[in-house]
Order: sequence, then structure tokens, then C-alpha cells
Amino acid sequence: QTVDLELEAIEKGGFEHFMIKEIFEQTRSIKDCMRGRLDSQTGRLVLGGLREYVNKLVNADRIIIVACGTSWHAGLVAEYFFEEFCRIPVEVEYASEFRYRNPIIREGDVVIAISQSGETADTLAAIELAKSKGAIIFGVCNVVGSSIARTTHAGAYTHAGPEIGVASTKAFTAQLTVLNMIALIVANKKGTITEQKLHELLVEMENIPSKVEKALQLNEQIQVVAETFKDARNFLYLGRGYNFPVALEGALKLKEISYIHAEGYPAAEMKHGPIALIDEEMPVVFIATKDSSYEKIVSNIQEVKARKGRVISIVTEGDDLIPKMSEFTIEVPAVHEALMPMVSTIPLQLLSYHIAVMRGCNVDQPRNLAKSVTVE
Ligand code: G6P
Repeated sequence: QTVDLELEAIEKGGFEHFMIKEIFEQTRSIKDCMRGRLDSQTGRLVLGGLREYVNKLVNADRIIIVACGTSWHAGLVAEYFFEEFCRIPVEVEYASEFRYRNPIIREGDVVIAISQSGETADTLAAIELAKSKGAIIFGVCNVVGSSIARTTHAGAYTHAGPEIGVASTKAFTAQLTVLNMIALIVANKKGTITEQKLHELLVEMENIPSKVEKALQLNEQIQVVAETFKDARNFLYLGRGYNFPVALEGALKLKEISYIHAEGYPAAEMKHGPIALIDEEMPVVFIATKDSSYEKIVSNIQEVKARKGRVISIVTEGDDLIPKMSEFTIEVPAVHEALMPMVSTIPLQLLSYHIAVMRGCNVDQPRNLAKSVTVE
């Protein structure tokens, strides 16, 4: 028993929980994910496992992404990214729904399955179904040699290293890294991106680890926010564009480990429901970094303020408007909007972690949840 505990302490590398260790590992895991694959100076952008089938993606009429949980959120970010840069229509499906509804899969459709563990039963079954209908399947997995990695025709590993905490953190940002690389390879081959834009994005990708590092320095500031809201009964997370899936993921992290009810919504949809929940007790987290929907989200913040909601904002460094409208402001470094999710998700991971710890929850092994769901 003592030996086990000591071993665990060593594995946690000085951190109190695996989750916080894994959150802090992201600077390195994102770098590891790009190592040997991406180099802006030489223009290198290669994913070895993709080569043989890459033309299927380039010529795809449609991409169908299947996944569950956090991996599904990575799929939603990828939808925006692929559509913007590759101009290929993308659908993102919950594997559990896809597999049971006799989906239409045509020649020219390509499936991308995303799974940290590579063992999720629903995702595996969705792949088998798509395969039986003749689709080519790409896998984005973290666990090498996992069932999904073995069943797919081609794929790329995320190389995030073992993820122990049940709530996925570093696997998510690594999934985004791989999906962005896939999309940029395809966009480049398809000619839907200019050389200059590609170069700009490669440079931005290389800078992500240092921006994540800066976002991690917000840790202490976020503890203050956590302390203030740890007893809240509900939370709302709102974002637009690339930050909409980040809002979903922020809400999922909080409910998974702190058992606080949380909902993520596209900020503009707020008026079709969630706005009814807002009162002086409701914390509303806005992921409102400087991007093409900035002006729009500012008016959403005003709507929440007008109803006395308690605004916590994630903004881009140097923003001098939103802080005036917020009870708490968390500043992240500026990043191209398509890559922002890799950075804007960091403070949300930290927020849910600290709230859960302050509430005395078992953050690494939350009740009723499993790291990999190998049953239906
Ligand atoms: C479980 C885990 C989540 C994970 C989801 C999908 O619910 O608790 O963290 O996002 O499964 O898992 P996968 O391994 O397929 O990414």
C-alpha cells in the first residue's frame, strides 16, 4: 500500500493530482505533438500515417467526424477549421447517435474518428458501421496500438503521453493540434489556402506552446475566481465562433469534476433560453477573445449585465472594454482566432480544477465517470 502511494506520488511529479499535472504538461505535449511534423522555417508539414490516404481527404465531398465527450468538442473546433481552410463540408456526430440511425454515407465521404483512449465502444462501433458502408476512416488517437488506432485505415497519434485524470485536458489540446495539421495539409494540397496564410498559421502553431505557458501563469489569479464561485449551483459558459466549442468544453470540465451544473452555449443562442436563468447569482463565463465576433459578444455581455448576471471574461491581453463590464477578467495572449481554442481552454481547465479541489471532490476520479467507456 505504502509502495503504491509512493509510486503514485512519483507519477504525479510533485503535483497534487494527475489532472493539474496534465494541465501543466500542455506546453510540452503540444510541442511533442508537432515535433518532426511541423516546421515553419522549412515549410515542413507532414503526418506520416496520413500519406497513403491523404488524397481521399483532399478529394472528399464531405468529412464526417465521430467522437464522444471532450473528443467530440475537438471535432467541433475542427469543423470550423476544416470548413474555413479546406472548404470541405464537415458534420460532427456523437458516435452513439451516428451508429444507431442508419446514416447516409456516400462515396466521397471520409470519416475522422477522434478518441483519446482509442477504446470508446460507441466510437469503435461507429467506425465499424462506416467501414461496412465503404468509407475511408482516419483516426486521431492518443493511445498507441489502441483498438480504434488499429481499426482505422490511416491516422495520426496525438502523442500527448498517458492521460490519467478522467477529465481530459492535454489530450484535447493535442487533438486540436493534430486536427489543425491535418486540415492545413489538406488545404495546402487542395490549394484552398495561400502560401502566405499557411506560413502565418504554421508560425502561429509553433508559438502556441509559449502562449499556453503564459496562460498557465494565470493559475493563481484563477484560484481567486474559483474561491469566489465555488459554491455556485449553476454556471453558464458562452462563446462564439471558434470559442463556442470551448464554452461547451469549459462547462463539461466543470460538471465532470465539481458536480456543479454547467451549460455551454453559443452566446447568440442565449436569448433562446439560457437568458431566463440569469439573475444576480448566476456566474456567466464569456470566452470573448478578440476575433471576428468580438463586437457581437460584447453586446451579449451587456445583455447578461443588464440582468445582473456575474460576468467572468476570458479576453485577449490588452482588451480595455470587456474588463469594465466584468467582475473578473482573465487575459490570455493574442492568437489567430482559428488557433485560439488551444489557449482559451487553459483557464477553463484551471477554473474547474480549483473549484473541484475547493469543494473537496475527487478530481482525478470523479463519481460515476470512467476514463474510457468500453461499454455502450
Ligand atoms: C469518457 C471520458 C472523457 C472522454 C470521453 C471520450 O467520458 O471520461 O474524458 O472525453 O470518454 O473518450 P475518448 O477516449 O474516446 O476520447
